[in-house]
Amino acid sequence: MEASATSKLLVSDIASSVDHVPSNYVRPISDRPNLSKIETSGDSIPMIDLQELHGSNRADVIYQVAHACASYGFFQIKNHGVPEKTIERMMTVAREFFRQPESERVKHYSADTKKTTRLSTSFNVGSEKVSNWRDFLRLHCLPIEDFISEWPSSPVSFREVTAEYATSVRALVLVLLEAISESLGLAKDSVSNTLGKHGQHMALNYYPPCPQPDLTFGLPGHKDPNLITALLQDEVSGLQVFKDGKWIAVHPVPNTFIVNVGDQMQVISNDKYKSVLQRAVVNSDKERISIPTFYCPSLDAVVGPQQELINEEEESHAVYRSFTYAEYYEKFWDRALATESCIDLFKASKT
Ligand code: OGA
Repeated sequence: MEASATSKLLVSDIASSVDHVPSNYVRPISDRPNLSKIETSGDSIPMIDLQELHGSNRADVIYQVAHACASYGFFQIKNHGVPEKTIERMMTVAREFFRQPESERVKHYSADTKKTTRLSTSFNVGSEKVSNWRDFLRLHCLPIEDFISEWPSSPVSFREVTAEYATSVRALVLVLLEAISESLGLAKDSVSNTLGKHGQHMALNYYPPCPQPDLTFGLPGHKDPNLITALLQDEVSGLQVFKDGKWIAVHPVPNTFIVNVGDQMQVISNDKYKSVLQRAVVNSDKERISIPTFYCPSLDAVVGPQQELINEEEESHAVYRSFTYAEYYEKFWDRALATESCIDLFKASKT
């Protein structure tokens, strides 16, 4: 069984034929999900209603954003402006993509992390020792016209639906960036102005049912390298966020997005906002799909702490040096998805 399983490129094509997790997916005992120890009730991440952002309560919403970014690194949003239909169509086409025959899916397979459109598995098969129970299609999507011809053309509606979704989520992210800027006491366009031409990537994550979910991860604990992430998840739980020394489950709420601070936002905010650990666990009876949008600087953009957030007093010196996003992003992919964030490699030297 295992010999034939390991000749497959994608975990989707292994999952249904095994009753044990193949050995290359098994984590060391000290690094397993401990599913029975997860906080499933009680503390959760804040839910922010963006409707209020456009009314007389804007200041209150900005305050909620500041609190969520500083204390959790995560929040959920409702009334976010992305139409329900757009969300539903995106989820449906993602599911249809992964349900296609192996021969159709593998046309897009690549282990080259530099490719702007590719289907792959785990995280970085070139650099990691233990694999993750996940396949993913990664797409660059800004500007759309530069990349759309690379995207899968099957299912037939894939390009149209994904383009509509990416455009709508980008508009939402730009609203969020203004709110986050304001929440840091900066001009509305400050964060957006540091991103060069801006970058936007998407992942369509597919987590097949797993016969032994206690032994492996969909994705192990990691921090996002980009600026902010807006995650759409289907109705199956799996996302967990690290808070006060514990993993908390973030259960799906229909028609919401989960937003998190990435490493670049931590740098720009000079550590006021935190990029925190997150992971995805799998389960034995249901497939799960999540669709993160990773919003980021363009590769040539120079990122560093915002000048207004640094003052000469010792406690608020520049925590990070300036760097190009290209430099950061390369470091991120070179390492297997490690719990230690790359951000520590970019600390300013103290003089
Ligand atoms: C990711 C990620 C979480 C999830 O793709 O980087 O963190 O819920 N996904 O799938």
